[in-house]
Amino acid sequence: MLNPVKVGILGLGTVGGGTVHVLQKNAAEIARRAGRGIVVTHACAKELNKTYDYDIKDIILTKDLSEVVCNPEVDIVVELLGGTTIAKDITLEAIANGKHVVTANKALIAKYGNEIFAAAQEKGVMVTFEAAVAGGIPIIKAIREGLTANQIEWAAGIINGTSNFILTEMRDKGSEFSTVLAEAQRLGYAERDPTFDIEGVDAAHKLTIIASIAFGIPLQFDKVYMEGITRISPEDVQYADELGYRIKHLGITKRTDKGIELRVHPTFVAHKQLIANVEGVMNAVLMQSDALGQSLYYGAGAGALPTGSAIIADLVDVARTLTTDSDNRVPHLAFQANALSNLPIIPIEEVETAYYLRMPAIDKSGVLAHVANILSENDISIEAIIQKQPPNNEEYVSIVMLTHKVVEKQMNQAIKAIENLDGIIDKVTRIRLETLV
Ligand code: HSE
Repeated sequence: MLNPVKVGILGLGTVGGGTVHVLQKNAAEIARRAGRGIVVTHACAKELNKTYDYDIKDIILTKDLSEVVCNPEVDIVVELLGGTTIAKDITLEAIANGKHVVTANKALIAKYGNEIFAAAQEKGVMVTFEAAVAGGIPIIKAIREGLTANQIEWAAGIINGTSNFILTEMRDKGSEFSTVLAEAQRLGYAERDPTFDIEGVDAAHKLTIIASIAFGIPLQFDKVYMEGITRISPEDVQYADELGYRIKHLGITKRTDKGIELRVHPTFVAHKQLIANVEGVMNAVLMQSDALGQSLYYGAGAGALPTGSAIIADLVDVARTLTTDSDNRVPHLAFQANALSNLPIIPIEEVETAYYLRMPAIDKSGVLAHVANILSENDISIEAIIQKQPPNNEEYVSIVMLTHKVVEKQMNQAIKAIENLDGIIDKVTRIRLETLV
């Protein structure tokens, strides 16, 4: 057997610890697969005298990142620092030193991946990122290699566990968003600053990566339309249920005649769909491709051991390629670097979807007729309509509608006109609806 591959880890927190733990626990099985051992020899940690619940006696600990990335002993650097400033510099430094890099950093790849992969390509090293999307689910490998025969048509994913947990609890308990967010923070699912999770930024990072490897386009995080779950109310969750739907926060990317859709937002999904039944902090990605049809990938989107599992899968992939010709590796973004396409990203105003609408209205004759008139003038066809009395409220009624598909800018125009009606007393709530077929 070849000598073991030596790994340097930057960051011995939850995920770093999980990675070392699984590498040690399953060392023999991993070596049988990789054809050689994979051992962590160096690690950069914030504290050097901490007690760890895994064996660190053979790991040289340091506080200095460069000591790991410049170390001639280290073959592969695992970047687990998070953020995009130091993480970017140190990743580029590792590449410049001829190190292969495995990262779990979705923000880094989504925002700076194009630059990082170009540097890696020039240096003949690999940068892998399985753990960056949907935690332990091997979704990168599935899209990049498992679906390589297919033209991918679209992907839709529950790729933020915190948002999925909050929406699940809101539905199960009828609670307000803010109550469940506080609970998620208490349980440690949501960060103290949960902005990235609840405003859709984390999902947008992950969607950027999925779209790139699905369609062979450069990473374009700045073009993702982003909407989080902060405005979802218990009322909407309840009406969704009554209409046979669940509200899920989805990342959706789709190839159309006009270009690529790239959007994250709360979405009405029929309750019969498998993905509508993904609950709590779990993640799932649904892929539609021409040869395979639909395929669904489900599992833990975070956590020490699941994320460690994804990182080690990358380590094994890199270990296998150390002795092969660098021109024949699986390309970073699934497609050859010189064959990426420049398909445009479609602005959200041009995207076509169906909608759920909720309009707070005075309960008097003519209001509904005016609303229907405006929709008709904008060529928006109604699929279902109900009028509800919001719980504990005698002041107004909610007119609730599902529409057929319409281009977003047309819906914007209609909503503006509806909000100007005398009988409509507050903002219209709109949630996009996807059939996912
Ligand atoms: N914060 C992420 C989530 C986990 O809630 O899914 C790591 O990507």
